[in-house]
Amino acid sequence: MKQNWSFRIQIVDTYLNSLKLSNDINNYYLNKTILITGGAGAIGSNLVLVLSKLVGDNGLILILDNFSSIKLKSSWNVPPLSNVMLIEGDIRNDRSLKRVFKENISLVFHLAAFFANQNSIDFPEESAEVDTIGHIKLLEYSNISNVEKFIYASSGCAIYGSYPQLPLKEDFISMHLTTPYQINKMVGEMYNNFYRHHYNLPIVNCRFFNSYGPGEIPGQYRNVIPNFIYWALSKGSLPITGEGNETRDFTSVLDLVQGLVKAGFYNEAVGENFNLASGKEISIKSMAELVNKTTQNTTPICFKPRRKWDTKPRLLASIEKAKLLIKYEPIIEFEKGFLENISWFKQNWEDIQLLSDFNPGINSAVRNKTS
Ligand SMILES: NC(=O)c1ccc[n+]([C@@H]2O[C@H](COP(=O)([O-])OP(=O)(O)OC[C@H]3O[C@@H](n4cnc5c(N)ncnc54)[C@H](O)[C@@H]3O)[C@@H](O)[C@H]2O)c1
Repeated sequence: MKQNWSFRIQIVDTYLNSLKLSNDINNYYLNKTILITGGAGAIGSNLVLVLSKLVGDNGLILILDNFSSIKLKSSWNVPPLSNVMLIEGDIRNDRSLKRVFKENISLVFHLAAFFANQNSIDFPEESAEVDTIGHIKLLEYSNISNVEKFIYASSGCAIYGSYPQLPLKEDFISMHLTTPYQINKMVGEMYNNFYRHHYNLPIVNCRFFNSYGPGEIPGQYRNVIPNFIYWALSKGSLPITGEGNETRDFTSVLDLVQGLVKAGFYNEAVGENFNLASGKEISIKSMAELVNKTTQNTTPICFKPRRKWDTKPRLLASIEKAKLLIKYEPIIEFEKGFLENISWFKQNWEDIQLLSDFNPGINSAVRNKTS
């Protein structure tokens, strides 16, 4: 099994050519040694591709990942590049952390997490161990190692609760969270703020909204877009949990990566929290119809009960703060990013079928304690 990397590298090259990062950003990253926890994941693998270009041949991208998000514990999502080093290990494990921090790391991008809402409901203790204890360990090592920046993958769904005013602005916070994952992600931001206040660790809290794009393998705990593409390519029915008029702020993974790269560069981001999103909302039903149309899937959509924890009828982020602080500017229109995502599926369809992680007969969307 081997991923078609040339396709993904070409997408990244095209993206970077359109983005035209400033010389200051390019020079800042050149020759650096950077740690990406969760670098074998959906977003992490894209960050690896982009940063490996920016650090150049004399830089190094270290990935620390335990492959828990991928079936068969495979390194399938790690690109074979000469300046990328994979360390298979766990953020909860001192041996793994000691090994990684031997490398004189300048920046830490902390993306490893126990993904995501439903998984954390099914396994709340492990979710807390990874997302809270593992996170604290990583902060400790980063602090002792005097890293230049610690950039954290927080989550919009973990901060703003169910019925806030739209668009979601950073200064509103809800304590009424509906999954252990959301709680742990918010706690992660709070620990970051503590390390900033007490030790002056240069932390940055980036709040992602629903990512989509090449690199995310479908599965019972994964996001709706890869799962819908998978079912549509399998000529199955797309299950909408709810009424379909619910909306999400779907964000291209490369735009999220752009935000991370800029968050690592701009000193104005230190100590701050901000949304990284597209700033546009799309209904689940219209997205499902687009998936079916594009894949020529004629099996009708079906409707299932809304999941108890899924209490957000609409999600739309304000991206004004990120625009102001780090000059964040999403450049991928949904229709274009979405087509690239489908192309990636088609290019890797046999492997994706083997790696997709659906428990037979169980769809987390409708799973309950008795199933
Ligand atoms: N994908 C989204 O839409 C989204 C939205 C909001 C926030 N986020 C956050 O962004 C980050 C990346 O998300 P993603 O979609 O790439 O998730 P992912 O599951 O694809 O990637 C996470 C990676 O972390 C690794 N990992 C998990 N536990 C680990 C551990 N204990 N030690 C080492 N590695 C471990 C997994 O194997 C996986 O490769 C996560 O922190 C997630 O919470 C993602």
